Amino acid sequence: MSNEKTGAAAQKELVARYAVDDLVARGLLGAGMKLGLGTGSTAMPAVRRIAELMHGGTLAGIRAVATSFQTTIACEELGIPAFSMNAREIGGRLDLAIDGADEVSPEGYLIKGGGAALLLEKIVAYNAARFAIVADSSKAVGHLGTAFALPVEVIPEARVSVTAALARLGATATLREGVRKAGPVVTDNGNLILDCLWKAAPDGSSPIDPARMEDAIDGIVGVVENGFFTKNPPIVYVARADGTVETRI
Ligand code: A5P
Repeated sequence: MSNEKTGAAAQKELVARYAVDDLVARGLLGAGMKLGLGTGSTAMPAVRRIAELMHGGTLAGIRAVATSFQTTIACEELGIPAFSMNAREIGGRLDLAIDGADEVSPEGYLIKGGGAALLLEKIVAYNAARFAIVADSSKAVGHLGTAFALPVEVIPEARVSVTAALARLGATATLREGVRKAGPVVTDNGNLILDCLWKAAPDGSSPIDPARMEDAIDGIVGVVENGFFTKNPPIVYVARADGTVETRI
C-alpha cells in the first residue's frame, strides 16, 4: 500500500472514531437513540466504534437503519440491531445520521454516492434530527460539481431521456460501469447511476448552485435521487494530515 493510501486509511479511522466519541460527549449520540448508519470506507470505522460503545454499555439500546447492503452486513456482523425506516421501532424518524462524503464544500454542501448508496443515504440523512459527516482531508474542496462527478440514480428505462435532460442543465453524464461485472452498476434498489460533471467557469469558479441543482435534477422524470446533499446542514468532521481533526459547526 502506498504512503498516500496508508495516510488516507489512517485519517478515515481517526476521524470516524473521533467523531463518534465527540457526538457522545456532546449528547448528540446516546443510549436508546435511533441512528442512521452510512456507507463507505469512512463510515465503516464509525459503525465499528458505535458497536464497541454499544457492547460496552454507553450506547445500550440503540436502533439503527443501515443505508446499504454493505452497512446491513456490518450491522449483522457487529451485532447492531438494524431495522427498516418503516419499522415500528424507527417510525420514519432518526435522532442522528452519521456518514461519509465524496466532497464537502465550505458551506457544508455535499456530494455523496461514490458507493452508489445515495438514495438510502439521503432518506436517512433528511429524516434525521442531526446529521454528521466524517471525511479525510482530500474531501474538503472549494466548490462542487467540477471534479468529483455527481451521481444521479435513474430508473433504467429513463437512462437516455435523463442523460439528455442533464445535458440541458449543463452536465455531461456518463453511465457508471461495474468493476468485475460486465455492464453497468446496478444499485441496491435495481437502478442505474449517471455520473455528472460540469465545466468550471473560466475563472475557475463554480458553474452551479448545488442547492438549486439538487431540486432541478430531482424534477427530471425518471430520476430517483441525486447525490447533492444541501438540505440538512451537517456537523462536519475533517481529518487533517497532521493527525488532528477539524470540526465545522
Ligand atoms: C456511498 O454511496 C457514499 O455516499 C459514501 O458515503 C461516500 O462515497 C464516501 O465514501 P468513502 O468514505 O469510502 O470515501
